[in-house]
Amino acid sequence: MSEQIRSMFAKLAPRYDATNNALSLGIHKFWRRKAVRLSGAAVGMNVLDCATGTGDLAIAFKQKVGKSGSVIGTDFCAEMLELAPDKASLKGLDVQFEIADAMNLQYLDNQFDIASISFGIRNVDSPKTCLKEMARVVNSGGKVVILELGQPRGILNVLYKIYRKTMMPLLALIVTRNDNAFHYLLDTSAAFPSREKFIEIMKETGVFSEQKFYSLTLGVAYIYIGKVK
Ligand SMILES: C[S@@+](CC[C@H](N)C(=O)[O-])C[C@H]1O[C@@H](n2cnc3c(N)ncnc32)[C@H](O)[C@@H]1O
Repeated sequence: MSEQIRSMFAKLAPRYDATNNALSLGIHKFWRRKAVRLSGAAVGMNVLDCATGTGDLAIAFKQKVGKSGSVIGTDFCAEMLELAPDKASLKGLDVQFEIADAMNLQYLDNQFDIASISFGIRNVDSPKTCLKEMARVVNSGGKVVILELGQPRGILNVLYKIYRKTMMPLLALIVTRNDNAFHYLLDTSAAFPSREKFIEIMKETGVFSEQKFYSLTLGVAYIYIGKVK
C-alpha cells in the first residue's frame, strides 16, 4: 500500500501546490498558520514535520521558531521533497529536508519539542503506529500536531458534499490531469475519521496525557493536538 501511495505522490509532485491552492481555495495557508499557533511553538524550539510534501508546514514552523530553533521536514517521497528547499530558501529560511518514513522515523527518542503532520495521517498504513512514532521522538510535555481534512456538519456538510462531487474533481482534472490520484485523495478525505472518532484513535495509542481537537472552516478540516506523556 505505502509503495502505491509513494508513487502516486511522485507523479503528482510537480502539480501538488497548484492543486492544493485550487481545491482549498487557498484556505490551507490559514489552517497551517493556526496549527503553528495552537501548537505552542516558540522561538528556539525543535520541530519535526512528517509527510511534509512540498514543505509548507515546515516553513510555517520555521517562521515561528526563528534562527535559534530548528525544523526538519521529512517525507518518504523524494519527488515531493525536491520542491521544498527552494521554497524555504526563497523566504530566507534554513529548513532541513530529509527522507523519512513517518511510520519508522530514524530520529532519537525525545529529540523534538513538536512533531507535526498535515494532510498526511490519512495516507499512512497505520495512523496509530504513526502517532506513536511521532510521540516517541517528542520530549515529555511536547506536542504532536495533526492537521487533516474532515467532514463538516449540518447544512455545510450537504454543500461540501456537492462541492466535493462536482467542483473538486473538475478542478483536480484541470490542474493535475491525474484523475485517479485525486479520486483517491477525495475518497480518503471523505472516509477518514474526524472529531471525536480521531480523538478516540489518539487515546488508544496510550502515548498522550491530553488530546484536543479544533474545527476549521466549519469542520472542513481539523487540528488535533496531543500532549506527549
Ligand atoms: C497530501 S500530501 C501532504 C503534504 C504536506 N504535508 C501538505 O500539507 O501539503 C501527503 C504526503 O504524505 C506523504 N506520505 C504518505 N505516507 C507517508 C509515510 N509513511 N512516510 C512519510 N511520508 C508519507 C506523501 O509522500 C505526501 O507527500
